[in-house]
Amino acid sequence: MALCLAAGLPMAALAEDPIDPKSYEVSYDEDGRYFTEDDVPTFKIADDGTVDWLTFSGFRRYHAECHVCHGPDGEGSTYAPAIKNSSVDLGYDEFVNVVVNGRNNGNSVMPGFGENRNVMCYLDDIYVYLKARGTDNLARGRPAKKEAKSDVIREDEDACMG
Ligand code: HEC
Repeated sequence: MALCLAAGLPMAALAEDPIDPKSYEVSYDEDGRYFTEDDVPTFKIADDGTVDWLTFSGFRRYHAECHVCHGPDGEGSTYAPAIKNSSVDLGYDEFVNVVVNGRNNGNSVMPGFGENRNVMCYLDDIYVYLKARGTDNLARGRPAKKEAKSDVIREDEDACMG
């Protein structure tokens, strides 16, 4: 952990580490999905507030499957952490790992969702939605405007849901 030498305190006690924009900025898009330069799925929000399809879909899936424990809008609850921040802090691979396999720290249990298609088929959607929230690019609540769902996203969804 970085130390603030002047005060001898951990930096985190003074301020959050700034989020590197490269971790969420859109580098390229493919059939209605957006990616960073590291090929990690990310959100896209236009100046007029229109969100990409995955972000909108992620909002709905999150509130169907996760918010009972993690609170509305990824804000956390007394029971489970604010995962809008986890999506930023953990990175994509570890985020996916926890959701697929779950985690049990002895006191509280995050269930594994690896067998649940309503989560697995929408994992990137949930991730990019939370990333938009955790980086303060998306306000709380249901996004008012969204991009159309692309044919490829529709086909992938049908194939995944069976
Ligand atoms: C039954 C309650 C419950 C549900 C439903 C739930 N979680 Fe969790 N989740 C938890 C708890 C409790 C923890 C903290 C576990 C720990 O302390 O290790 C957690 C931890 C996590 C973490 C790790 C947080 C971190 O910063 O380390 C992620 C990521 C996560 N959950 C994602 C999700 C997603 C995505 C969903 C919906 C698909 C979901 N959770 C649904 C209870 C839940």
